[in-house]
Amino acid sequence: MSYILGIETSCDETAAAVVRNGTEVLSNVISSQIDIHKLYGGVVPEIASRHHLDLVIQVVDEALKTANVTLKEIDAIAVTYGPGLVGALLVGISVAKGLAWATGKPFIGVNHIEGHISANYISSKTLKPPYVCLVVSGGHSHIIQVSDYDKYELLGRTRDDAAGEAFDKVARAIGLGYPGGPLIDNESKDGDPEAIKFPRVSFGKDCLDFSFSGVKTAVINYIHNVEQKGEKISIPDVAASFQKAVVDVLTDNTLQAAQKLGLQDVAIAGGVASNTCLRSEMTRKAKEMGITVTFPTPIYCTDNAAMIAAAGYIKFVKKAFSPLDLNAIPGLKLL
Ligand code: KG4
Ligand code: ZN
Repeated sequence: MSYILGIETSCDETAAAVVRNGTEVLSNVISSQIDIHKLYGGVVPEIASRHHLDLVIQVVDEALKTANVTLKEIDAIAVTYGPGLVGALLVGISVAKGLAWATGKPFIGVNHIEGHISANYISSKTLKPPYVCLVVSGGHSHIIQVSDYDKYELLGRTRDDAAGEAFDKVARAIGLGYPGGPLIDNESKDGDPEAIKFPRVSFGKDCLDFSFSGVKTAVINYIHNVEQKGEKISIPDVAASFQKAVVDVLTDNTLQAAQKLGLQDVAIAGGVASNTCLRSEMTRKAKEMGITVTFPTPIYCTDNAAMIAAAGYIKFVKKAFSPLDLNAIPGLKLL
């Protein structure tokens, strides 16, 4: 039996969780700051850090209480050390270091993206490397070959905006507000995904890279054209057509990667992995190709600490502990 306490403060969620044996979530406490940042149309880094400071201790306390585990019974403390907002990261890291030092427990720094990928092990007990993982969040759109639990190879990436970033920017352009992804997802339910033909960018059959800035500009141009004609825009149709354009490319490139490598398993990770269209299209197309798709339940797709504890467990088993002088690395890369 091993109990890992995970802490996550890289952006606008203050989160703590206790995970047993790498995949059993005993508690998963998330205090979201979305309502505060909504006022500004996006995350304000300094405000995020201050709120993390106010909340982090009570969030950690609640995670331990809900899990019915004392700090003494915890085997290691895992925390996100990048990528993310430096001030926000430092709050979680400082708390984790303090707890580790005071209790003498191992301290484990976790890459946030590795956390997102590991969220899949919580939801699927059968997923094992090697597999192809599509990581789609606010800052990442990567197709990764997961060769082993801690071995990754980059197969494709965005050349401009991340998928989540495109969702957020388009949501702002069509007046839906922040955070854009869930709002577009919701609005799309009443729209026709074939109503407007937005571009799907491809860099040729041997390249798995993405580009989403073109589709974002196409949406903005479409809105201007319709408005200039004095016509009314159907927000659900724009949302559904934009979403489908992004999902088509994400799905096709990821499945092409799995097919090329002869891998039977595909996983999706990151905030955009909670998108209902992406989940259903990936499942539908993969089934036709005989590929199995895994995605975390929505609460483990967006930022949470259970995924950090799950990734921390992989390092704990290998005794890959971090030194107590570990610093925050805002631009930390997985590959
Ligand atoms: O992984 P995440 O919570 O934070 C980062 O590490 O970036 O991802 C946040 C991103 C945001 O851009 C948000 O708009 C997007 O994930 N997102 C979604 C959905 N839920 C969150 N995008 C599309 N559909 C959703 N349902
Ligand atoms: Zn994230």
